[in-house]
Amino acid sequence: MSNIYQPDLMTITKVIQEAPGIKTFHLKFQDEEVANNFSFETGQFGEYSAFGAGESTFCIASSPTRPEHIECCFRETGKVTTALANLTEGDTIGFRGPYGNTFPLDDWKGKNLIFIGGGIALPPLRSVIWNCLDLREQDGRFGHISIVYGARSVQDLVYKREIEEWNQMENVTMVKTVDPGGETDDWDGHVGFVPHVLENDFKPDPENTVAIVCGPPIMIKFAFEALERLGFKQEQMVTTMENRMKCGLGKCGRCNIGSVYVCIDGPVFTATQLAALPNDF
Ligand SMILES: Cc1cc2nc3c(=O)[nH]c(=O)nc-3n(C[C@H](O)[C@H](O)[C@H](O)COP(=O)(O)OP(=O)(O)OC[C@H]3O[C@@H](n4cnc5c(N)ncnc54)[C@H](O)[C@@H]3O)c2cc1C
Ligand code: FES
Repeated sequence: MSNIYQPDLMTITKVIQEAPGIKTFHLKFQDEEVANNFSFETGQFGEYSAFGAGESTFCIASSPTRPEHIECCFRETGKVTTALANLTEGDTIGFRGPYGNTFPLDDWKGKNLIFIGGGIALPPLRSVIWNCLDLREQDGRFGHISIVYGARSVQDLVYKREIEEWNQMENVTMVKTVDPGGETDDWDGHVGFVPHVLENDFKPDPENTVAIVCGPPIMIKFAFEALERLGFKQEQMVTTMENRMKCGLGKCGRCNIGSVYVCIDGPVFTATQLAALPNDF
């Protein structure tokens, strides 16, 4: 019987320094059969290992519509992420996954979508943004797409090149912001916290629209409150949670909130589902 904790080996084929302390890896499976059998859906995550240091949980930051490789984007915060950050192109890491549920793209057919993110929370959104943009290009299944993204400062914004690409796209509204004091002389975006800019500058229409929010818990809380004041109902608001995880498989009990296992029942939840949890934020 195969060991469910045994990672597959992946080669780092490209490293991008996104921002201070934040890197993107492009990854390819070393075993051709594993590569051919691998598939995932947007919203899912993996356990990425640096040998001798341990495993870390990151979302899969690339879109399933672009299967040449998978990508992760991570911030150096501690033991494993520092060990990963010290690796370079050509090095090997371990990967287990994909795990978790997915963004409900079928439920969003015909709707306008607003993606709202803060800081290092753009990677999960970036996967679903490209997935929705690619599907809309193929069959027009979504309406208008808006992206509201902010970070502490201009240098902390991740995927800067893609923010500019989205900014140029037809039928996409790109709203970028940095926290007060984080702007530079040539900054051409907003200055203000993401929920504030969302409510007071962007003011999205809730009609036939779904809002997908990712960020630190405090940003999610304030963004949900701002959306409610704008007329969004809880069932129109979706987020992903980043509870501490170990196994990713519903075995270790590390990630649960009451009877809900974030690694299996999530990480994607609607605001309605979160409100029903025993200790929501
Ligand atoms: C479903 C999911 C998806 C995630 N996706 C990403 C991603 O795409 N990119 C990314 O950079 N990070 C992501 N994270 C967070 C990431 O897993 C942790 O930052 C990472 O595992 C820290 O590992 P470490 O060994 O370097 O840090 P440790 O040495 O274990 O801890 C360093 C510090 O980080 C804090 N920390 C560790 N894990 C978390 C966490 N889950 N939430 C908040 N604080 C934490 C610790 O409390 C400690 O203060 C995700 C987490 C989950 C559960
Ligand atoms: S991470 Fe082990 S049960 Fe969820």
